[in-house]
Amino acid sequence: MKVRLFTLLLLLLLVQAPARAQTLPYQNPDLSVEERVADLLGRMSLAEKIGQMTLVEKGSIDPAAVTRYAIGGVLSGGGGYPSGNNTVEGWAEMVNAYEEAALSTPLAIPVIYGVDAVHGHAALAGAVVFPHNIGIGATRNPQLVTDIARITAQEMVATGIYWNYAPVLAVPQDIRWGRTYEGYSENTALVTELSTAALVGLQGEKLSDATSVLATPKHFVGDGGTAFGTSPVPEGLLDRGVTDVDEATLRAVHLAPYVSAIQNGARSIMVSFSSWGGKRMHGQSYLLQDVLRGELGFDGFIVSDWEALKDVAPNYADAVVLAINAGIDMNMVPYDYAGFITTLTAAVNNGEVTMERIDEAVSNILRVKFEMGLFEHPFANTDAQALVGSEAHREVARDAVRQSLVLLKNENNALPLDANASQTVFVAGPAADSLGMQSGGWTLEWQGFNQNNRTEGTTLIEALEAAFGENTEIKYSARGRYAAVNGSEAHADIGIVVVGEDPYAEYLGDSADLALSTRDIGLINNLRDKVDKLIVILLSGRPVIVDTQLNQADTFVAAWLPGSEGAGVTDVLFGGYDFVGKLPYTWPRNVGQLPFDFAHLPAEGCDAPLFPFGYGLSYASAEAAASWLELAATCAPAAS
Ligand code: GLC
Repeated sequence: MKVRLFTLLLLLLLVQAPARAQTLPYQNPDLSVEERVADLLGRMSLAEKIGQMTLVEKGSIDPAAVTRYAIGGVLSGGGGYPSGNNTVEGWAEMVNAYEEAALSTPLAIPVIYGVDAVHGHAALAGAVVFPHNIGIGATRNPQLVTDIARITAQEMVATGIYWNYAPVLAVPQDIRWGRTYEGYSENTALVTELSTAALVGLQGEKLSDATSVLATPKHFVGDGGTAFGTSPVPEGLLDRGVTDVDEATLRAVHLAPYVSAIQNGARSIMVSFSSWGGKRMHGQSYLLQDVLRGELGFDGFIVSDWEALKDVAPNYADAVVLAINAGIDMNMVPYDYAGFITTLTAAVNNGEVTMERIDEAVSNILRVKFEMGLFEHPFANTDAQALVGSEAHREVARDAVRQSLVLLKNENNALPLDANASQTVFVAGPAADSLGMQSGGWTLEWQGFNQNNRTEGTTLIEALEAAFGENTEIKYSARGRYAAVNGSEAHADIGIVVVGEDPYAEYLGDSADLALSTRDIGLINNLRDKVDKLIVILLSGRPVIVDTQLNQADTFVAAWLPGSEGAGVTDVLFGGYDFVGKLPYTWPRNVGQLPFDFAHLPAEGCDAPLFPFGYGLSYASAEAAASWLELAATCAPAAS
């Protein structure tokens, strides 16, 4: 009796022994990826397979549940930093705990942890915040993009995250879209060049290196081509709407960047919320299967967007079946992961989703996890932690800011500024003192933030105060109020007013009027009368309607969303560097001109845009602007 009991105990121990203790074929990095996939897949139960297809927001699941459900992916959605401990160490501790939990399952398959590091690892306080893609588009510099992506990857792996929901491959066609700034440009060729450069930078020399991260070209396909007024979201206008174009246009304008991404090593692709051909993209089997997998040969994994499955059909069970059969492999179910698992399990048991389809999806996911080396290095790369927010990284970001600025107008010798002159300078606008407005959405929070004390960086007023010499009397007033001197109206040689959009993301940024705020219009009007030279700096996620203000200003600079390194702006304002930025989007004179018919844009008269794609002055070429500025002067309504 005792012998049998002992044998039974021994058997139990062997079965329960953590798989890590043994070296099974799938755990052997010397085997081919396909051999490892086949071996591991053969060992998995249906529950383990469906768990592997499940991606959950960290706020909805604790590590113990990751073990219990054998979850394959965890993410930090916008603002998903470790609460109360938004530090490198805090992130590494949080992410490592999920990895430990996953490695405690019988098969010890590491989770893949994802984040939206779309302009640096900007959810992490103290990380370098790079210009958003619209500003990067203005640089026209693919090598810079690759350098930025390399740094972003380094700052991510330091926190244990090896999966980036970037780059965005959108080709925004209507700048009233709230995600325009996430796109590099309206121009497909430029988006293709720069997004591929980003992907290459993120994935490094080898995807399995511990400083490489998995890129996720998104959102497949046509996210930037939705028609105004088709958003299915109550607060939206275009976002997640209908890409109402024929297939030839969809391919030429929106699909082309994916061809290059796949040719250059894309191994995960995120699907768009939008619709095409009468179907939600998450149920578009023609585009996901026939085109993406069949025609383009993509054999990585396809990941859904945030809770997007539920929109594919009125009934959730039907939606899950349609989406999985259409080709979705990894399902971002940020909240009700148990409901998804139950629903998909039922669909397999009743034959609506075949085991073959499940095995294909799981194989796609495992293939990429093996390619990433995730089984070999699942935890935070502590060697990279000293690099986060480093001066070297910030210098690259400062250079990116310099190259992103677009000079729209410079008259009356307003620029370059003279650091040593004896002069009075008025600075106005809350945007001059806000890292939040400099950075825009996807910075610490999903929607960004508006106080400048929440991450590290240099505001524009800090940069200006550092750059002007002792002979300059500089006065800053967010509201543009300056005390009269000796009874006479306040007056300054130079006025610098920083205006801009409050931070936003996704559908909350959709805009019908692209109007400057009345606050900003008032600041410009108010300062105009007090200064000899008026310089306007615009912080925005897209071109906005500024024709009147353009005429009031001597100098107008589009600075987009420059991020943490505000000194990159003053580097150029003081002439240390010339302006090199070129418009990545056509600038409308008024919203009545939208959506642009890019193939038939008038080049003269008030029906012409305010500025064309590619426009941008330098100190040497300011006079080249004459025709566009004359047009602005004749077509714009007078200041009110
Ligand atoms: C969002 C966005 C997507 C992002 C995802 C995770 O809704 O559409 O770009 O990667 O959710 O944060």
